[in-house]
Amino acid sequence: VEAGTGPVTIEPLRFADGALQVLDQRALPGEERWIRCETVEEVADCIRTLAVRGAPAIGLAAAYGMALAAPENRVAAAELLRSTRPTAVNLAWALEQCREAPDALAVARRLHREQDEADRRLAGLGAQLFAEGTRALTHCNAGALATGGYGTACGVLRAAWDSGRLAEVWVDETRPLLQGARLTAWELRQAGIPHRVVADAAAGSLMARGQVDRVVVGADRIAANGDVANKVGTYPLAVLAERHGVPFYVAAPLSTIDLATAHGAAIPIEERDPGEVVADGDAFNPAFDVTPAELVTAIVTEAGVLQPPYADSIGRALAG
Ligand code: MRU
Repeated sequence: VEAGTGPVTIEPLRFADGALQVLDQRALPGEERWIRCETVEEVADCIRTLAVRGAPAIGLAAAYGMALAAPENRVAAAELLRSTRPTAVNLAWALEQCREAPDALAVARRLHREQDEADRRLAGLGAQLFAEGTRALTHCNAGALATGGYGTACGVLRAAWDSGRLAEVWVDETRPLLQGARLTAWELRQAGIPHRVVADAAAGSLMARGQVDRVVVGADRIAANGDVANKVGTYPLAVLAERHGVPFYVAAPLSTIDLATAHGAAIPIEERDPGEVVADGDAFNPAFDVTPAELVTAIVTEAGVLQPPYADSIGRALAG
């Protein structure tokens, strides 16, 4: 299978005329609204409020944000951007790439290009894990909107579709903010890939009836031992997949792997406004969960498909 080859048609971020244009993902798919950011504070707001979201995309937004900071304000700018969301390590990683660079815009543009290249490479590798007629299930949105490139989990789906291996995608609606129902369904529609949105709670019965052949998700942070933080609702899918003998794949670039985090319990899990869960009344709103490495069949990266034991395969991949 070739690396993903389709055109980039969905761009969540554009930098032009001294400003970062952010496609407001909260308004999709109903409306294509762009937010013009001329300051670091405006970029930080876009990340915090999910106008831009998805681990690699918030990293890129932060890098472009650094390009808007005056040289004497760069330390404070990096601190502000880093504080917007705690779980996706790509954010801190991208800021680290900008730290010593005299030209943050050049770094941001390079990271943006490299993200697309990594996405396409891992998409092609991931598609090889599919056999003809595969019905795949995905959670949240790990597509072009979430990466600024070809997409990770959705990139795998695109490459699998292009190589004739994919029959249909089950799209978890992804409570509470419906990234699946709104964003993944929108991307798959534009790519012409057959899909149906399901309530998150439907995954168990679909698997029990033998209607899911593969689960493919993205990641916000992968610990050194292979534990995976991703959108809340991912861990229950992994448990169900194990119960029903369905392979569970995580697709993510190497920049999502954090060797400084030994295991999943050390990954900070963002808690968001309870108002995202219920209009009024008490609620608890952890935005992510951790899937233990033992439930992950393979981790698809641009450097290859990593197999357990992940402490070894991750170490080798990052060593180059
Ligand atoms: O809260 P979000 O929408 O930023 O969460 C996004 C996810 O959980 C994605 O699956 C993850 O960032 C991977 S994106 C390629």
